[in-house]
Amino acid sequence: MTDDRSPAVAEDPERLRERALDALTTARDRTALLTSCVDEHELVAQHSPLMSPLVWDLAHIGNQEELWLLRGVAGREAMRPEIDGLYDAFEHPRSERPSLPLLAPGEARRYAAEVRGRALDVLEKAPFEGEDRLTEAGFAFGMIAQHEQQHDETMLITHQLRRGPQALTAPDPGPVEPYRGPSEVLVPGGPFTMGTSTEPWALDNERPAHERLVAPFHIDTVPVTNGAYLAFVEDGGYTDERWWTPQGWHHVREHGLVAPLYWRHEGGQWLRRRFGVTEVVPPDEPVLHVCWYEADAYARWAGRRLPTEAEWEKAARHDPASGRSRRYPWGDADPGPEHANLGQRHLRPAPAGSYPAGASPLGVRQLIGDVWEWTSSDLAPYPGFAAFPYKEYSEVFFGPEHKVLRGGSFAVDAVACRGTFRNWDYPIRRQIFSGFRTARDA
Ligand code: AVJ
Ligand code: FE
Repeated sequence: MTDDRSPAVAEDPERLRERALDALTTARDRTALLTSCVDEHELVAQHSPLMSPLVWDLAHIGNQEELWLLRGVAGREAMRPEIDGLYDAFEHPRSERPSLPLLAPGEARRYAAEVRGRALDVLEKAPFEGEDRLTEAGFAFGMIAQHEQQHDETMLITHQLRRGPQALTAPDPGPVEPYRGPSEVLVPGGPFTMGTSTEPWALDNERPAHERLVAPFHIDTVPVTNGAYLAFVEDGGYTDERWWTPQGWHHVREHGLVAPLYWRHEGGQWLRRRFGVTEVVPPDEPVLHVCWYEADAYARWAGRRLPTEAEWEKAARHDPASGRSRRYPWGDADPGPEHANLGQRHLRPAPAGSYPAGASPLGVRQLIGDVWEWTSSDLAPYPGFAAFPYKEYSEVFFGPEHKVLRGGSFAVDAVACRGTFRNWDYPIRRQIFSGFRTARDA
């Protein structure tokens, strides 16, 4: 058993400093786009009680950057102590945020820009080596770039919920040959290394690297498609209690769910709304906007089950040839456009079977990007977990009420997506960019 150390993560401090600057700049460009493509009225409006107004995300991004890079790393005084409470996610639930005295769009932009200007000065001088874990390998800068990108995904979810004409556009993924490979692969049983102790910007819940024993299992080579999911819908899956957990059954009945969010049946066909445009549901694309209960029910209907989180990570990282866990399914190289659909480059998942260059050694495709994949596991700490740098990033969410999602979606930037990256949400959530693949015992 080897650990997950690899040449690609043992990086020189100056190279990491450049990466941090690049990651912060990429995030801010995306934030600017997401908050400039609609008018001011739309920025302050609440498009769904599930989400904050976009202008809240914008100032919250600046406030977290001020908190960790200016006050945390550089020890500066608070710039505007009176606004901290407004942008503390734990003080005000999303539904309350529109009624708070939030910074107006112009003020929020100026605040975030002023914080950024100062943060770049801090970045230039910060010691990337030494005992301080906040600055070692540029962790705080990487964390803040990831935080901004996470909110850029949140804002994209808000854009998708928003009614009204299209505000965002992006080219579609290129055409692909229909996937004709095997529908599943056998992942051999045995130990593998889960999590990481060497990835410099991995967040607290991904740490430390530890050994996990996994029994042999089969896993789908591609995510479940709209076409496959439609067979479940049309087979009466939503009205057959056999496929659902008791809570799932209660949930679909109470809320009258009949198909994924944004789908509607009209004129004999299934249509979906996607960023302000209504289109026929594409059968070859991974299914999107399903909750954990729906994913779990589909799997049972198909005679299968969701993979556990450990199975998912073993399928994504374990290299049977070397016995080593790699950073990504394709190896240790950072994600490129040939590997995965990431970074809001496209505003939809790519057809199942895309990105052969991003496949794992066993041939599992699209583990990274396209759609977040529900696993059967609750969010739990790894053995040896220590909250860092704050308990409210992940520790307060550990427990059976949150299910783990893996792999990232088309809406996630590469800086916030790795083979070890863990996301989580309530099992009822479906406005997120969530899909799944299935597994079975070998
Ligand atoms: C890890 C995606 C569940 O969006 O609630 C953003 C990330 N944490 N700001 C979330 C996060 C604090 C978090 N998720
Ligand atoms: Fe946040």
